[in-house]
Amino acid sequence: MCGIFGYIGKNNAKEKLIEGLENLEYRGYDSSGVAIVQNGQIHIVKKAGKVCVLKDELLQSDLDGHCGIAHTRWATHGLPTELNAHPHTDSKNQLCLVHNGIIENYISLKKEFNLTTKTQSDTEVIAELIAKIKEKDNLEKIKKACSFLKGSYALAVIFENEPDAIYLAKKESPLMTTYGEDGIYISSDANAFKKYANNFYILKNNEFAKIKNNDIEFYNKNSKINKKLNNFEKTFSFENKNEFLMQDEIMQTPDALKETALFFENFKNLKNYFDNIDNIYLIGCGTAYHSCLLGKKYLEFLNIPIFSEIASEFRYSNVKPSKKSLCIFVSQSGETADTIACIKKCNCKTLAITNVPNSSITFNCKKTILMKAGWERAVASTKAYCCQLLVFYLIKCLLKNEKPKWKQLVSSCKKYLKKNNIKDISKKVLNFEKIMFIGRQEDYVTAMESSLKLKEISYINCIACPSGELKHGTLALVDENTLVVLISTKSSLHNKNLLSKQEIEARKGCCFVASNIINSEIELPNLNSDLMPIMSILPFQLLACEVCISKGYNPDKPRNLSKSVTVE
Ligand code: AGP
Repeated sequence: MCGIFGYIGKNNAKEKLIEGLENLEYRGYDSSGVAIVQNGQIHIVKKAGKVCVLKDELLQSDLDGHCGIAHTRWATHGLPTELNAHPHTDSKNQLCLVHNGIIENYISLKKEFNLTTKTQSDTEVIAELIAKIKEKDNLEKIKKACSFLKGSYALAVIFENEPDAIYLAKKESPLMTTYGEDGIYISSDANAFKKYANNFYILKNNEFAKIKNNDIEFYNKNSKINKKLNNFEKTFSFENKNEFLMQDEIMQTPDALKETALFFENFKNLKNYFDNIDNIYLIGCGTAYHSCLLGKKYLEFLNIPIFSEIASEFRYSNVKPSKKSLCIFVSQSGETADTIACIKKCNCKTLAITNVPNSSITFNCKKTILMKAGWERAVASTKAYCCQLLVFYLIKCLLKNEKPKWKQLVSSCKKYLKKNNIKDISKKVLNFEKIMFIGRQEDYVTAMESSLKLKEISYINCIACPSGELKHGTLALVDENTLVVLISTKSSLHNKNLLSKQEIEARKGCCFVASNIINSEIELPNLNSDLMPIMSILPFQLLACEVCISKGYNPDKPRNLSKSVTVE
């Protein structure tokens, strides 16, 4: 959540910062701002709204400097206004800073240090606090101030008395820096400066950096440290062909699946990791949690207890995995705060399934299976979800010594994405006030994920319900304004599903069926039952995207949301 970018080098910082913010906008887009040093003076420009608003303002300004920091915000404390946007300064303008994370004790710090602030943001307290510290050296000021902070932070700071330097500090929120071809770059996601560098440094918790004179010095709390460089993982690049990233990302699913399946060969030695375990916990949030629900189905053959857990709940539950548990953490971004908090509670085998190498989840888990879905930037997760399910399927095949049939999956997805009727269906969907997705077993999980996708980007109030549960309460909602989408891909349960269709129609509700079994409104290709859930979500990802676009919204940047939920 929130994106930090910084540049100090021989080129124009303004252009670099705009480009960086555009790359990071998926992390938050309520408001944005930059601080650029021109002739030794710090100039701040901030705007409420998307990065393009700030960009227009900056392009018209004659700001010209070689050092700057920038921020795109997802509001946690205070409205998304220009005042609350970063960079923040102290009251005497001795420094300015951008911050990702949450300062949990900002109210008590205000009292303790008698700090006065003009905004509603927790970040301004950090600026005031640093300014108040008596130490002469700027790095020492930051170190001391950080020792009082509780919560999470990635910070980039510029001081008025040292305007040719940028200082960094990190705890929990991601922060990276690199020597680029024309200067030094800073970002909360290395992808944002990948174009300019071959490798990069990742700050660890309680580490600091001083960037000055074309040099990066790293420090921990006590002394200067040496850090090793990380390479960018080789990943195939996808072309952007459509107006929106989400459209591109759905279309990239077949390639993402293929790359993930091929790359899985590197993790076959993890087979032993499943030996001598008593139970398995599958933990994630949102879409990743839905993957966990299906992951449980893939692994049920092991005949040991398997629990799928919502990370934000599990972190506070009294249940603690035992020493013989295996905990699997699923996260596209690898940075989800609730999921990371759960890892810390586990004193057992831990395995990450993620799309982002060198992410916090990979650092915190003992083992990692890396997916190769490619950079996913649209807030709604699509291709990554399919790859997460594929990984669970591949684990199942590995453990059962079966040959995976992913090639079939890839070609079916490709064909379906080329030819489908979702545009027509989406027009009909727009006529209904209420939408429900129903199904049984794996199809119920697909219904949950379909409902999340649609509400997330089109703001339609929709729900998911297991088909058999309708008559236990939810059926009361069904009337002539209700569309129920019945997902039915399991022939053994198909007749039961048709009973639900009749129950809906008897209450004047409209029922569309998505099935590979009978002729239906949404026809699905026939695939092996393990592969079906990976494919059967595609129509509903497309549907959510189509509905969203026809309502005039941007699917990549739904209101109130952010791609990477790095705060609690
Ligand atoms: C997906 O469409 C959502 N935007 C959201 O539920 C997401 O899956 C969740 O926040 C978890 O993210 P992660 O996979 O990066 O951990």
